[in-house]
Amino acid sequence: MILLKGVSKRYAGLSAVDNINLEIPEGCIFGIIGKSGAGKSTLLRIMSLLEAPDEGEVYYRDERVDTLSPEALILKRRKIGMIFQNFNLFSSRNAAANISYPMEIAKWSKKNINERVDELLHLVQIADKRRARLRELSGGQKQRVAIARALAIHPQVLFCDEATSALDPQTTRSILALIKDLQQKLRITVVLVTHQMEVIRMTCDKVAVMDGGCIVETGKIGEIFDSPKTQAAKDLVNA
Ligand SMILES: Nc1ncnc2c1ncn2[C@@H]1O[C@H](COP(=O)(O)OP(=O)(O)OP(=O)(O)O)[C@@H](O)[C@H]1O
Ligand SMILES: [Mg+2]
Repeated sequence: MILLKGVSKRYAGLSAVDNINLEIPEGCIFGIIGKSGAGKSTLLRIMSLLEAPDEGEVYYRDERVDTLSPEALILKRRKIGMIFQNFNLFSSRNAAANISYPMEIAKWSKKNINERVDELLHLVQIADKRRARLRELSGGQKQRVAIARALAIHPQVLFCDEATSALDPQTTRSILALIKDLQQKLRITVVLVTHQMEVIRMTCDKVAVMDGGCIVETGKIGEIFDSPKTQAAKDLVNA
């Protein structure tokens, strides 16, 4: 479970995230939706410990994690997987070497890394792309490499920031199906940020709607789609 208590973040006087209280249950796919600039990525960076909040507290289960020492933070971050719209892969490394990276940093043995890379390539269904250079991969295949890399060290949570926003509708569906499948197989928690309602509808169990740095509405997918209460939610449902 991830718990946020009164979390705020300001950039030069602008409230990117404003006093957010949120509980993300374990083992679900939780969506965060809102229009551009709503504060979704900022909130995700705080949740994934990439950035510290100006105010408030972040907990993983019962452990406070926003005030960890730099060393403890590094170890904690290894238990977190993250994927992005632009994949953030190394263009100089092939598929397998990209997936290996976090295991090299964690000083795994060559043998263990190789075995895990094989396992991961199968898991994300690109076993035939082991030695492919990045430029030889489609967007969907690149995102599969990024997912494999994110899952390499058995994280408990996978954070996705607009992970399908650069992909065509069919590839988007296949990546979302993969994320759903992996969430169930590996019993991880997935937090998915998007501005596309369709992505939320296809994937998530619960959703929080953000507007102007605040969470204006939360609920089960069906509730938000059938009876959005706030104007922000109505705009997103009717877009
Ligand atoms: N590092 C930063 N420095 C200054 N301002 C920032 C920074 N990061 C975000 N902001 C500002 O904070 C607000 C929220 O940005 P954020 O990236 O969280 O929005 P978002 O909901 O993810 O938008 P998008 O859908 O376009 O990705 C915006 O006004 C943005 O300009
Ligand atoms: Mg964003």
